[in-house]
Amino acid sequence: MNTPFANTLYYGDCLDIMTDFPNSYIDLICLDPPFNSNEKYNKVFKNSGLVIDPQIKAFDDVWLWDNTSAERVKPIKNAIANPASKVIAAFEGFIPQSKMLSYTSYMAERLFMMHRILKDTGSIYLHCDPYASHYLKLVMDAIFGEKNFRNEIVWSYRSGGVSKNWFGRKHDILFFYSKDHRNRHTFNVQKERSYNRNFKPYRFQGITEFQDAQGRWYTMASMRDVWEIDMVGRTSKERLGYPTQKPLALYERIIKASSNPGDLVLDPFAGCGTTIEAAAKNGRDVIGIDILPFALRLINRYRLAPNGITPLPIKGVPVDMDTARQLAKTSPFKFQDWAISLIDGLASNPQKVGDDGIDGFGVFLNTPDNMDRKAIIVQVTGASGSQKAKFDRLHANIRNENAAMGILITLDAQPAQRNWKHTLAPIRMGETTYAPLQCFSIAEYYRDKERWDRILTLPPLANPWTGKHMQQKILFEA
Ligand SMILES: C[S@@+](CC[C@H](N)C(=O)[O-])C[C@H]1O[C@@H](n2cnc3c(N)ncnc32)[C@H](O)[C@@H]1O
Repeated sequence: MNTPFANTLYYGDCLDIMTDFPNSYIDLICLDPPFNSNEKYNKVFKNSGLVIDPQIKAFDDVWLWDNTSAERVKPIKNAIANPASKVIAAFEGFIPQSKMLSYTSYMAERLFMMHRILKDTGSIYLHCDPYASHYLKLVMDAIFGEKNFRNEIVWSYRSGGVSKNWFGRKHDILFFYSKDHRNRHTFNVQKERSYNRNFKPYRFQGITEFQDAQGRWYTMASMRDVWEIDMVGRTSKERLGYPTQKPLALYERIIKASSNPGDLVLDPFAGCGTTIEAAAKNGRDVIGIDILPFALRLINRYRLAPNGITPLPIKGVPVDMDTARQLAKTSPFKFQDWAISLIDGLASNPQKVGDDGIDGFGVFLNTPDNMDRKAIIVQVTGASGSQKAKFDRLHANIRNENAAMGILITLDAQPAQRNWKHTLAPIRMGETTYAPLQCFSIAEYYRDKERWDRILTLPPLANPWTGKHMQQKILFEA
């Protein structure tokens, strides 16, 4: 048993969480970091009528050159113990102040940490796309060593449209490196069908051959590095509605090849938990990390429970009033993000400073054809006492931003809220009328068995990551 961190889900930046892990601790790391701007996410808000869209960025905040990127690049260049420092310094000469420099330096910090915690017999799989793969390979070569490069796996799929101007871009890249080059790493050979041409049997001595339903002959051969696996499509049974969900078959293949039962598998960018499900159901111990608390809740509910696996403890997320109060005190921004994540369909504002107190957003759909979008503004306060001033500020923000509704999230219940005055019109949709300003307290949330929908009455919301009507049964279920 890989205690003390094993079989736990962590809420936070993986860089911070991994800092506490011992050296040479993990058997296999699978990571699928945010590797491209999530345009869909931004589009929702652009159509919402909210005028602050340039500030809104979600997973793509590492894809911008800003002060944070500049501050990150400086120390990495000076961190001579990090073998990626030279690569980042070279990139700075080649692509100064660019979003790729921001992204590669962000990844270099985290990959260096992953190298430290990986066992000598361990392996790492880095999932990326062809826009970033050539840059990341240099970073990987620097940190893990080019001798330890094992494969560039092409995951090829069929989906959606193709361009008239170039070949359809239908693959991702996964870099597989081991920690050590003396072939001490765990590797269980996987097999795939190798077809003979012309529908003829091979008839080679000592080779067992098979015939498929179409009568074609094949043998089982060692697997190559190009993998045809279907994406998680719209109608796929696996689909959870998480925008970047990867197929289970892809990650099960990796888990089976590069770990054994009882090994410890880490996914530092766990998302909705494809790695975690693949590993846990194959008898591995697991650690998952994500900066979205609701992703971690999805893992327990829809990845582990259906496989008969006991839900994992989630660390870093409040579990009752005391821990909520503590988070509000020690990490106000984390508290904001967590509190907003409790209400399905709302998303945090990644801009934490200079945001006019706007901490989150939602978009509701005014018509069945989704044409008319209206914004909801969310403000959160972790302070105790009356929140009348916050309420007034929210009121002003709704007017300034031409939004239609506001939600004030407080720590304690606000008994006086019903008498607070505002000048906003109620929202009428068909037969139903919704209050334009609503309050939600964490105290009520715990009192009401963690059901936000017993406290707030909201119109149908758009899924903040896809912009589509939230019909996904799973993603935002209470
Ligand atoms: C591409 S998705 C992973 C999808 C996952 N493979 C799946 O199948 O669901 C990347 C994830 O990384 C998370 N993330 C982004 N930055 C992070 C960070 N610094 N630490 C931990 N998680 C982070 C995002 O919230 C997102 O869920």
